[in-house]
Amino acid sequence: MNKQTQVEKLNKKMTACSRCALRKTCRQVVPGEGSAEAEIMFIGEGPGQKEDELGRPFVGAAGKFLDEMLATVNLKRENIYITNIVKCRPLGNRDPFPEETGACWPWLKEQIKIIQPKLIVLLGRHSLERFLPGKKISQTHGLAFRREIPKLGKLVFFALYHPATALYNGTMRETLLRDFRRVPRVLEKVKKEQIYEQ
Ligand code: URA
Repeated sequence: MNKQTQVEKLNKKMTACSRCALRKTCRQVVPGEGSAEAEIMFIGEGPGQKEDELGRPFVGAAGKFLDEMLATVNLKRENIYITNIVKCRPLGNRDPFPEETGACWPWLKEQIKIIQPKLIVLLGRHSLERFLPGKKISQTHGLAFRREIPKLGKLVFFALYHPATALYNGTMRETLLRDFRRVPRVLEKVKKEQIYEQ
């Protein structure tokens, strides 16, 4: 079965998920979107209001800024994969609870297993905490890490502030744009196996 078919099958299963209470209050599950053959996977926190309405990740204000950053490095949404730590919107855009991120973790693991991205870009502290627990976003943004993740093997991560942090803060916007510019170079380094554990 090719990767696209596997992703579609997985998405179908996800839409029927009721492993945590979020499904009771969200409009729909937002599994993720993009190319199943993507070399880069972006992982955010969870769907917001707009994403919940449209069933697509990063389509609100933070998504607009993400699109802007993608354009600066000539990346297109159709060539990458975008998903979130939790696939259902936490009401009022609160942070997801640990039991919610825990319940959703098997879905994310399956997505990574199928797509096998060469590089995973972690958008914000929730995403960072899931893969690099204990690390601070203020100290890791703009840096790449190679880590062994149980059942997934060695993966390379690149940490970024969440795009939403830039919406009302010009300094953060500059920092994000500067960090984002490193993404293609980091991918090239991964391909040359030049990323070492930090
Ligand atoms: N913020 C996220 O973390 N994910 C989305 O999909 C949208 C906004």
